[in-house]
Amino acid sequence: MIFGRVKPLDAILATAEKKSLHRSLGAFQLTLFGIGCIIGTGIFVLTAAGAQKAGPGLILSFVIAGAVCVVAALCYAEIAAMVPVAGSAYTYTYSVMGEFLAWTVGWALVLEYAIAASAVSVGWSGYFTGTILESTFGIHLPDALRAGPLWLGGAEGGFFNLPAFVIALLVTWLLMIGTTESARVNAILVTIKITALVVFIILTLPMAQAGNFNPFMPGGFFEAGGVGVGGAAATIFFAYVGFDAVSTAAEETRNPQRNVPIGLIGSLGICTIFYMLVAAGAIGAIGGQPIMGPDGIPLITGSPELARQCGLPQNAELLVCSNEALAHVLRTIGYGQIGNWIGYAAFLALPSVILILMFGQTRIFFVMSRDGLLPDALSKVHPKWKTPYVVTAVTGLGVALAAAMLPVGQLADVANAGTLYAFFMVALAVMMLRKRDPHRERKFRVPALWLVGPLTMVGTLGLYLLLPLAAILVLPIWALIGFVIYFGYSYRNSHLGRGLVEVHEPEIHDIEPGIPGIDEPR
Ligand code: ALA
Repeated sequence: MIFGRVKPLDAILATAEKKSLHRSLGAFQLTLFGIGCIIGTGIFVLTAAGAQKAGPGLILSFVIAGAVCVVAALCYAEIAAMVPVAGSAYTYTYSVMGEFLAWTVGWALVLEYAIAASAVSVGWSGYFTGTILESTFGIHLPDALRAGPLWLGGAEGGFFNLPAFVIALLVTWLLMIGTTESARVNAILVTIKITALVVFIILTLPMAQAGNFNPFMPGGFFEAGGVGVGGAAATIFFAYVGFDAVSTAAEETRNPQRNVPIGLIGSLGICTIFYMLVAAGAIGAIGGQPIMGPDGIPLITGSPELARQCGLPQNAELLVCSNEALAHVLRTIGYGQIGNWIGYAAFLALPSVILILMFGQTRIFFVMSRDGLLPDALSKVHPKWKTPYVVTAVTGLGVALAAAMLPVGQLADVANAGTLYAFFMVALAVMMLRKRDPHRERKFRVPALWLVGPLTMVGTLGLYLLLPLAAILVLPIWALIGFVIYFGYSYRNSHLGRGLVEVHEPEIHDIEPGIPGIDEPR
């Protein structure tokens, strides 16, 4: 039963071909789109959480997480070029492993997209309160409104992260009324982000001191409990999340067989190099040693004890305590104004990452409800805005509440758990498809698939197991909730299960204004 109800690949492709989509994207635009999705809170904010886990060894963590993403991206590239339709990992799994496992992937993607959107909202909030309110206008937002409560790992005196809540709702509203982001705006934002990172690297690397890299791995290498270089890799993996969004644009890509792989691997490669240089610059310039607990192990990120320690005046200057890591580093080495500019860059660019992630979420829900696995009401389209406003509102409210209550590191870890599961399944799907359907045309073939595929599975599983226990547990608990919904509702209502072959149903492009960062706004 577990592998039952496979949606035939040819039916999926036939549906896709019925659409008169304008295939206009080239490799360069796709790469730009990828970078637009990838660079965000991970590098601008989580560098601090990563350093708390690994110390200077964080540089290695970026390499490990990047390597896992590269092999996963190769798998994505093969299947996305072959099945260039909406729904990403969910659709691929449906066509290879059947409905039940596809459901689990779609359900896990909620963690990837929605929770990641919450994490980026919290990251944005750090820069908003630090750079915009405090450094620029001298306004101090009350502690109660800057972070979630201490018992959830927020901050001393924290209660509700108001800026994170507001930005998530604002983006929700923009999506509901059909606002998207043009390719031009995306290109401008990518330029701003890259410029900010280049400036950061140029100013910090020459100031790096060898002593700041010593001890290099104060948290150890592969340790349980989410510390050490491995634990930091599992967290910092978040900085790469989003490259798979490139695959969702495959339907709009010219010659997808060539351009999708270039876009995926190109954007990932560029980001990996930037991230390693930024981490080396940040730690080299001001140091990045973790705050240790009494047992000589780094305090857990998101723990009330760390939040308390970071509230002490003597720790205020530490990289690991900063909510706006990159701006903080520049301020500390005497570039206060440029630090503020970095803050402005994050302030301007991060909302677009939230927009893309939330858009991805509504799209996955849309495709699942089109398949009958979620209630039709969710994909109700607004008569005037022409957007799936119900699903967008529900998603947005959830994203905003999570952002208001939880710290960025914990949110990112949970998003990673869902993403790692999806990547694992994509690697499995690619290998199964090679065996089952070896003669189907593949314009892009993963080189050495029987090495790359298993490496992706081992890498994603390994990173998952290196996450903090709470994040590890969220995935099975989330899956249990998913099973209840699947067997309580989806199994009976599935279009495939009811024998309805979906060919004339509304496609996402009939209702959506287009992919943010790619399509021109209406
Ligand atoms: N990779 C994206 C970020 O770091 C999600 O914000």
